Amino acid sequence: MKINPDERMSMGTSYKKRGVDYELLADRFTLPTEYYQSEAIYQQEIAKIFHQSWLMACREEEIPNPGDYITVPVGDESILLVRDTEGNIRAHFNVCRHRGTRLCSMEKGSFRSHEIQCPYHAWRYHLNGNLKAAPMMKELAGFRNEDYPLFSAHVGLWGGFVFINLAEEPTPFEEDLRPLLGKFQAWHLPELRIAHKIEYSLNCNWKLIIQNYQECYHCPGVHPLLSKWTPFRGAVHDCFEGSVIGGYMEYAEKGGGMTMDGKPASVPVCDVSGPDLQKVHYYSIYPNLLLSPHPDFVLYHRIRSLAIDKIKNDCFFLLHPDVISDKSRMERFQSAIEFWDMTNRQDWHVCEQMQLGLRSRRFKRGPYSGQEDILHSIDKEVLKALGHSPPEKFSPKS
Ligand code: FES
Ligand SMILES: [Fe+2]
Repeated sequence: MKINPDERMSMGTSYKKRGVDYELLADRFTLPTEYYQSEAIYQQEIAKIFHQSWLMACREEEIPNPGDYITVPVGDESILLVRDTEGNIRAHFNVCRHRGTRLCSMEKGSFRSHEIQCPYHAWRYHLNGNLKAAPMMKELAGFRNEDYPLFSAHVGLWGGFVFINLAEEPTPFEEDLRPLLGKFQAWHLPELRIAHKIEYSLNCNWKLIIQNYQECYHCPGVHPLLSKWTPFRGAVHDCFEGSVIGGYMEYAEKGGGMTMDGKPASVPVCDVSGPDLQKVHYYSIYPNLLLSPHPDFVLYHRIRSLAIDKIKNDCFFLLHPDVISDKSRMERFQSAIEFWDMTNRQDWHVCEQMQLGLRSRRFKRGPYSGQEDILHSIDKEVLKALGHSPPEKFSPKS
């Protein structure tokens, strides 16, 4: 027996009332603890998920001019994301074709001479990755610069976000992120700019953050203020599986806002009207972007997994440039920053506590509640990517 998608639309409505199959829900347990503790499984995740999926690397505005770059760690790889002289964004593996030295050790910067020079024997590359010069290598019979361009990764652009994919033959960007591509056009995302960034370093596994983001079972206890502004029983999912999962919550009061006083943080940033002005959207774009368009701003988190129990999870606020340049509006906007910083830290605390608890020798798995149905889909995505079979049927007495 299956849950009808219509029945799953509301996370908050009682499953019993809606006649949903309890037997199926009762078989939904968390992933076994080794998925959060085993270094071997984590290395499989790096190889089969992070090295194969479309990852959100940055906003286009972070590398605005030719020569501007950022480096993006992906497991033990490093990707050099650079804007070339034609204005295109290129993703190169950050490794020299001579003897494999890492080319660039900085997090961000600009190649002012419009070339990338290896720090070891000074091979020089064009911004597009082609080898420009290799000292004395011409003396070698048969050596040709064109045989040694930098290795490239794939680039996908959407809404001002830059995605990369390290696979040699990835699933096409448009195919993988299809549910996302038509969404949120009313926000004019490419026109928005970063108004504020908060950097967080967390001691937990990357999956716990995505799971935390997609359920509001925890909201009444963990986020009293968020629950007041957007009651958790109003949470609705409209994307249930695949790379894009999520839905929205509705304000308790007409014209609400995710701020310390529950009023809007700014003028609407989007063209939506009517009931849509009452919605705050929460989507996880698997495996490293959490995207939350609000009527008055866009919030997103970029997750970088650094170790099995360590992530960098940076939180960004996007606004229209006219709002960013208006001092009084930005003063008011501080209330949204304060609200989300407080809410984020409430989440981070429980996720870090969960990472610690999952070390227990006694705990194996636990049952998902009806409000956590969607987490089962996220777990299935992980198992599918790893090529693992579903774990054996679990009994709390086993
Ligand atoms: S390793 Fe890069 S030039 Fe030698
Ligand atoms: Fe939360």
